[in-house]
Amino acid sequence: MESAGLKLGVDGVLAELATLAKISEAEPPVVTRVVFSEADLHARAYVKRLCIDAGLTVHEDAVGNTFARWAGSDPGLAPVGTGSHIDAIPNAGMYDGCVGVLGGLEAIRVLQKLGFKPRRSIELVIFTAEEPTRFGIGCLGSRLMAGVLTAAQALALRDKEGHGLDELRARAGFTGSLASVALTTGRFHQFVELHIEQGPLLEQDGIDIGLVTHIAAPASVRIMLEGEGGHAGGKLMPGRKDALTAAAELILALEAAAKSSGAIDTVATVGVCDVFPGAVNSIPSRVRLETDIRDTDGTRRDRVLAVLQATCNEVALRRGVAISAEMVNADPPATCDPAIVTAMEEAAKAAGKTCKRMVSRAYHDTLFMARIAPVAMLFIPCRGGVSHRPDEYASPEWIGSGIHVLARTLATLAS
Ligand code: GLV
Ligand code: MN
Ligand code: MN
Repeated sequence: MESAGLKLGVDGVLAELATLAKISEAEPPVVTRVVFSEADLHARAYVKRLCIDAGLTVHEDAVGNTFARWAGSDPGLAPVGTGSHIDAIPNAGMYDGCVGVLGGLEAIRVLQKLGFKPRRSIELVIFTAEEPTRFGIGCLGSRLMAGVLTAAQALALRDKEGHGLDELRARAGFTGSLASVALTTGRFHQFVELHIEQGPLLEQDGIDIGLVTHIAAPASVRIMLEGEGGHAGGKLMPGRKDALTAAAELILALEAAAKSSGAIDTVATVGVCDVFPGAVNSIPSRVRLETDIRDTDGTRRDRVLAVLQATCNEVALRRGVAISAEMVNADPPATCDPAIVTAMEEAAKAAGKTCKRMVSRAYHDTLFMARIAPVAMLFIPCRGGVSHRPDEYASPEWIGSGIHVLARTLATLAS
């Protein structure tokens, strides 16, 4: 595989990434692309066009997961999959997910230009709603594909405005039974996702490629607190049932539980805190918290979940505030397939890239693809480990290395 040919491709991918980044609900350089928004639909159309231009056969399922196939010489064989997502959380950058989609497409185009003839088809997958922004649950498309989320559970999902998944997907042009999104084991022979690390280790160690061996276990709990509102001046402190001060106790207890788990791998975040009525001179009567708790060890993560539940019970009793905690998801970790990891390692070496094995602390659609296929992930560095921020950055060299190693890996797996 000529690196000169690859360099040309990287310039093209950088331009495509920049074009995609401008399809945003926010002013550039901020990327916000919530699933089924106008921006998401434009971005889908743009990427689909690129896939068609590359000669791929595109189809979409009932929730908008998009499959772009480069047909192999043996159509009877299950394809090798690659891909990621193009939705982006509010105030995001331009590389999360998009590097795996446009980089995956570029890996296919590089192989095409080199005259490679895959035996297995290679299928690029663009997953719907990897990010939990709209429906409160991450990896919506891949959860449905893996059968981890049932059609009935998916139909119950609503966004903050009360619009249901069914209404929103239909408006976006996706119809048909959600049950049909589920794939059987064997539909994909293997699956590999290219992604930025979203952590600092590769850059710190000066390593080109991360070979992901495990994906940490994510969980999310939605907590509703119902206290008693009132006048901020007139109502004296004794006997108040302030939902926000109760929530503050939960937030700090969760942080303490994660910090004292005994492992640096336990992380907990409260990223959403909605306060009602949200007036400076009114005691908060209602609060909604959305929490995110993760660990490489599912059992240790579950101990933090148990502490959170116990704290909810204790604070509710002591403060006279009603607290209900709903487990949105508590997924087990995933283990990557050793044979694919070895293939990626050999590809990295053949490409002249340094690599190391590592854990993904972020979740990815691959966490769910692991339920129905052997999987692995390739990481490239990102500056300062920064992600989920507009200043997220991956250099052209890093992106080029990722595409090069992905192309070699796909060539091996599809042969
Ligand atoms: C994915 O976006 C994650 O939050 O890990
Ligand atoms: Mn993300
Ligand atoms: Mn991502």
